[in-house]
Amino acid sequence: AQQSFIQRTIRNPIAAIQSDMTTRELLANRVTQALTNLFPDENNWEPQLTAATRPEFGDYQSNAALSLAKKRKMNPLQVAEQIAQHTQMNDICEQPQVAPPGFVNFTLKKQYVAIQLQKMLADPQRLGISPRERKERVLVDFSSPNIAKEMHVGHLRSTIIGDCLCRVLEFLGHQVLRINHVGDWGTQFGMLIAYLKEMKPDALMETSSTSLGDLVEFYKAAKRRFDEDSVFQETARKEVVALQAGDENSIHAWSFLCEQSRKEFQQIYDMLDVKLTERGESFYNEWLGIVCKELEDTGVAVRDEGALCIFVGGHTGRQGKIQPLIVRKSDGGFNYATTDMAAIRYRVKEDKADRILYITDAGQSLHFSQVFEAAKKIGYAKLETKLEHVPFGLVQSEGGKKFKTREGETVKLKDLLQEAVRRAEEDFRKRLQAEGREESEEYIKRVAHVIGIGAIKYADLKNNRTSNYQFSYTKMLSLQGNTAPYMLYAFARIQGIYRKGDLDLSDGQSESIQFILDDPTELSLAKMLLQLEEMLYLLERDLKPNILCDYMFELSQRFNQFYETCPVLKAESLQRKTSRLALCKLTANTLQLCLHLLGIPTLERI
Ligand code: ARG
Repeated sequence: AQQSFIQRTIRNPIAAIQSDMTTRELLANRVTQALTNLFPDENNWEPQLTAATRPEFGDYQSNAALSLAKKRKMNPLQVAEQIAQHTQMNDICEQPQVAPPGFVNFTLKKQYVAIQLQKMLADPQRLGISPRERKERVLVDFSSPNIAKEMHVGHLRSTIIGDCLCRVLEFLGHQVLRINHVGDWGTQFGMLIAYLKEMKPDALMETSSTSLGDLVEFYKAAKRRFDEDSVFQETARKEVVALQAGDENSIHAWSFLCEQSRKEFQQIYDMLDVKLTERGESFYNEWLGIVCKELEDTGVAVRDEGALCIFVGGHTGRQGKIQPLIVRKSDGGFNYATTDMAAIRYRVKEDKADRILYITDAGQSLHFSQVFEAAKKIGYAKLETKLEHVPFGLVQSEGGKKFKTREGETVKLKDLLQEAVRRAEEDFRKRLQAEGREESEEYIKRVAHVIGIGAIKYADLKNNRTSNYQFSYTKMLSLQGNTAPYMLYAFARIQGIYRKGDLDLSDGQSESIQFILDDPTELSLAKMLLQLEEMLYLLERDLKPNILCDYMFELSQRFNQFYETCPVLKAESLQRKTSRLALCKLTANTLQLCLHLLGIPTLERI
């Protein structure tokens, strides 16, 4: 794709300009043109254009001269000089500068920056960012808790990260399938059904509205019963066989159990405002046998000690033996891997997915690398299908210890979310009292919910995805630092400044606004606003939500510097006041969009 893009560019630079091209891509294009003119015999162009690594290098830099000079045994500084002279870009940049040993540095023109800001201002919903011309069908497999088992903090991370990535991909115009691959199948159901029949036989009556109460407790009790009594074990085994054979009674009991779990999961999703389509493991049952047959027929899987195995990945396990991906156990049973193979087959064939993302903890990395390799080998995934495991680290308690309650129990997600909301309410009431403000009870509840849930989401997303992070209510709810309350506060404050200015930005008005970017803090804020699009493309590729949080934090810092230096409401002229109010509005809109992509709604006052 890279190659053909460049070929297109060389033949017709204007035609190559896409509406979703960023400033960096535009510049890269121009550098490529210059290179083509300078070295017509060369055919593998890499403009090597990146954001400037140091402020004195301007806004962007090209490192192309360095590798080119090496290859052609030329002086890198001279090559850089030639590139600088031949790059046509006075509509975008100042005259490019050369820096040793051979960098070409580009500084955006104020005029160009101002025009881009106008475009953003005229489009408050999308801020000038057009949806991708090349849309992908992206299937995001996230959240995915297991029926009748604990939905734990790992699933919470998956839910929060997955939702954020979906929101970003949706915003960029892709078709996103949000899939909840719940663990709703497996041998544990034999035990659960047997226990259910024993303890609550009436639960399975047509008209029954019995609730099992805490399903995790129910699971634990069933497990205890199973471990203690061999007669019960036998009953449980028979239930598994009956369930797998599709026995009507068993299926009924199984759906009853799933329904109980589903209700509990839904409460969490509602609190988090996350939308998911459930398509659990059981969905793939009818294809498991076919998948194994296809794997064996093609020779991708082989029998080894009675089990059907795929030897991929080359990871060694015990006794130095290669650890294969087992798709059928020696007792004939299917497993987690069989289901994932069937799922890829279905997702590519039926869902027509171009890209599939799996959001789970890093512990499952080996499993996915093996599944992906096997899927490519047998052709369930096409050569160009992008299969990506999006791993994340553990949630720990403060001090890096295992995340548990004081009593050593696992923390219930509902309690965890409610506690954040409770503390947010407490903080807010204190603040109202200290500042002598009054708000309705309804508004207080709303603020508490948005801040509490937002704080949990933000604290998760702002970290490097793959590292472990320490859960701290105090830190995540702080009004200072890189937190949700700080960002919500920054938005409300900036929006408030803008409101006081009475600037008319109704239809058509914004086009006439002239941005004046004379103060360095104005220009620096403006350039940060311009980076929104590039930041989102980076996120689309790397799938790291902290890119978004870092961006917002830096934006709010630059806004503060601007606001400390440049009077807004008392600006020295009407023109400056207008320009600065518009900068406020753009900053507020940008923060609002970013918060929205993180799954956090904004508040007018906090
Ligand atoms: N249910 C699994 C767990 O709790 C996660 C499933 C992830 N998705 C998948 N296609 N394997 O660990």
